[in-house]
Formats: sequence, structure tokens, C-alpha cells
Amino acid sequence: MPTGNVVLVGFMGAGKSVCGRLLARRLGRCFVETDDMIVARDGRPIPVIFRQDGEDVFRRLETEAVAALRLKSSDVIATGGGLPCREGRMDALRELGTVVWLRGDLAELLARARRTGARPMLNGRTPEEIESLYRAREPFYARAHLTVDTAGLGIDQVVARLVGALRGPHAARL
Ligand code: S3P
Repeated sequence: MPTGNVVLVGFMGAGKSVCGRLLARRLGRCFVETDDMIVARDGRPIPVIFRQDGEDVFRRLETEAVAALRLKSSDVIATGGGLPCREGRMDALRELGTVVWLRGDLAELLARARRTGARPMLNGRTPEEIESLYRAREPFYARAHLTVDTAGLGIDQVVARLVGALRGPHAARL
């Protein structure tokens, strides 16, 4: 039974990668990203997987990544923004350790997501469509053990909040 991981979930631009990497360093843990696992296994960058094979194939690769995560213990794990938002995925993540939702203000998340890296899920979508994607995902993220609000905060402040939240009542699970 794998335990003791910290699993970060949240929408694109939430800072799961950058804050997760820093958190891992602070805690002396290994850091792993599901998107990196997928790219390493498939051999293609994520935008190319979406372009050539479509979203469904990418989501299947995510299922394989979630299965592979069962081998991890005591790691900090950053998940792709859409990974928790499928039937059974939050249950699987919650079994890996403490799940933390990095919740942010949508406008801020989108500005950051568009600044950093390619996001196929944002391409060709109107602001209204993106907002409804976000709203549809929120109930999945809300099943995290802990929520850290990131609105208006810098990376160091978010990491400090994460460390604080993980020292709370959930610390026993770490
Ligand atoms: C996705 C988010 C991306 C990546 C893929 C799909 C999504 O990860 O997994 O482009 O569906 O929200 P980030 O959340 O790190 O951008």
C-alpha cells in the first residue's frame, strides 16, 4: 500500500510544477510529474500527442501514469490539470497520500498558463468554454484532503502555505 506522498492537483497555471518542485526540495523528497511520466513513456511531447492522437488517447496515458504512481512513496507528485477529473481518479489519488488542491483565481491561472508552456486544452476555446471547463473540474479538485489558496501569492508564499497545511492534522498521513 503506497503511502506518504503529497499529490498536488489543480487547474492549468496553478503552479503545481514549480511549487511542487520547491516543496519537494524543502521536504527532502523526490519530485515527479505525471506529464513527465507520460512524455517519457510515450516519447512525444504532450501537444503532439493531443494533435496526432487526440484527448482520449492522452487520458488513457494518464490512467497508466496513475497506475504507475502506486509504486511511489514519500514523493511529491504534480498531476496534470485534467488528470483528477475522471471517474475514479480522485479515489486513486487519495490512496497515494495527502492530496492538496492548489486553488486560484481563474483569470490569474489562465494568465500564468498562457505564459508558461503549451496548453492544448486552452487552444481554440472561448473564455466561456474555458470557464465552464474550470467549473466542471472544481468538484473533482474539491475532493482533495487539503486546499491551499494561491490567489495573489508568489511561489515562495504558496510553498510556505503548503508546508504549513501539511503540518496540520494531515501530518500523520505523511
Ligand atoms: C491538461 C493540463 C496539462 C497537461 C495537458 C492537459 C488539462 O497539465 O496535462 O496539457 O487537461 O488541464 P498542467 O495542468 O500542468 O498544465
